[in-house]
Amino acid sequence: MGSDKLKIIVLSNDNAIRSKISSYLSNKKSILELEFADSIEDIEVIKTLKQSDIIIWPNDKAIQDIRDIYKMMNLNCRLICCQKELPERKILEELSIENIKFISFPIKAVEFSSMMQDLIEDHANKHDKNESESPCNMYPIQTNLLHSWGKYCPFNVFLKISECKYIKFLIEGSDEYTEILDKYINKGVKEFFITHNDYLILKEKLIEGPFNSSGDPTQHLKQVNVFLQNMLLSTGVSSEAIELADHLSSQVLRNFDEDTSLKAFLLDPMFEDNNQFCYNHAYLVSAVCAQLASLLGWNSQTITRKLVMASLLHDSSLDYPEVIIMHDLYPEKLKELDREEKDLVKYHGPTLANILIQHISIDTDVITIIKNSHESPDGTGYPLKTNVSNLNLQTGVFLLAHEFIVELYKVNFDSKEVDNLVLKIFEKYNRGHFEKIAKEFKNIFFKVRDSLVA
Ligand SMILES: [Fe+2]
Ligand SMILES: [Fe+2]
Repeated sequence: MGSDKLKIIVLSNDNAIRSKISSYLSNKKSILELEFADSIEDIEVIKTLKQSDIIIWPNDKAIQDIRDIYKMMNLNCRLICCQKELPERKILEELSIENIKFISFPIKAVEFSSMMQDLIEDHANKHDKNESESPCNMYPIQTNLLHSWGKYCPFNVFLKISECKYIKFLIEGSDEYTEILDKYINKGVKEFFITHNDYLILKEKLIEGPFNSSGDPTQHLKQVNVFLQNMLLSTGVSSEAIELADHLSSQVLRNFDEDTSLKAFLLDPMFEDNNQFCYNHAYLVSAVCAQLASLLGWNSQTITRKLVMASLLHDSSLDYPEVIIMHDLYPEKLKELDREEKDLVKYHGPTLANILIQHISIDTDVITIIKNSHESPDGTGYPLKTNVSNLNLQTGVFLLAHEFIVELYKVNFDSKEVDNLVLKIFEKYNRGHFEKIAKEFKNIFFKVRDSLVA
């Protein structure tokens, strides 16, 4: 198992930096080995560096010097340079092809962890050929998804016994497996795992299309969304998650450009459970955004797609379902959190924006929407307390759609409450250049309400 572990070397003699990185990686101790080295000039250090998977190197050298050192030492591991400021995006892109990554330092724990997740997945991919039950290779899977697999269990499913130990409890191909599953769920088991390899197969299957017997496209979208939110909650924003979010975005665009689909989801009991809010609200926001964008005549798929993508990812720097539920549905409870947790919530939009800058496939407009995902047109949002004059129209559509869905949850999707709710949100957004968004929003939801009553 030792050889499966990711070998990371921190190249710095600064104790404060060493202990910071060490604490950021403390929850990944079972899957990686962390070492420290002082100087890149030392021959012994160079030998160690050559055997590592990742070198983390805080330095203030020029980009070209770093490139030269990396080439001269003939390294083929990942080099992560920590500097005060990031190079331009285009240069980041070129460097990433060369296996060199830049992160701005100091960095928030959640951003560091998200970046490490991608590297860990990369490492797991390389080791999947000799599939093992190494903790590096195990991924959590939501029970909703396990139940939707159909008659035969398509993968081996594992239970976690301890930090480093998993046992197989469902065997691939077995029938009536849901009964065994329910027995464990009734006993209070909340987490089940599949191997990283199967996790990737499952992701590909979900991209291909529905894999259960119903073949219903809307059901399939919900399934993909649950898997995506499951991925984001358990492993953060990784490249795998972004690929799936991108796929789901195009499906949402195809499905939610008419009010019939909007009516269908307002009536869907699946969405009414507040405990599932963290899995479903992003998806619902994305549907409302797609609808509003089409009514506003933004028929450019690119703009709408960015909105949908931002909606699907917007809370993914918060890694606990309870915190996601609390900050949107019960913000008054946030005062019960300690200072550090409060800060995590307060800055989760800008934090996620910083994480996404590292992913070159993500458009800068998506990043802007996410950064401002808790601002408000009347200046009462957070953390910047900016107002309508500093928010662009796309952000306005997102904010309005998000607020509408949150309020719907708060009234338990009661259609009798929709009128009040729509008017309240209309008043709030009917200012400055957001007026046209507010007007379209009011029209469409009154139309949907009328068809619900009819
Ligand atoms: Fe949020
Ligand atoms: Fe949210």
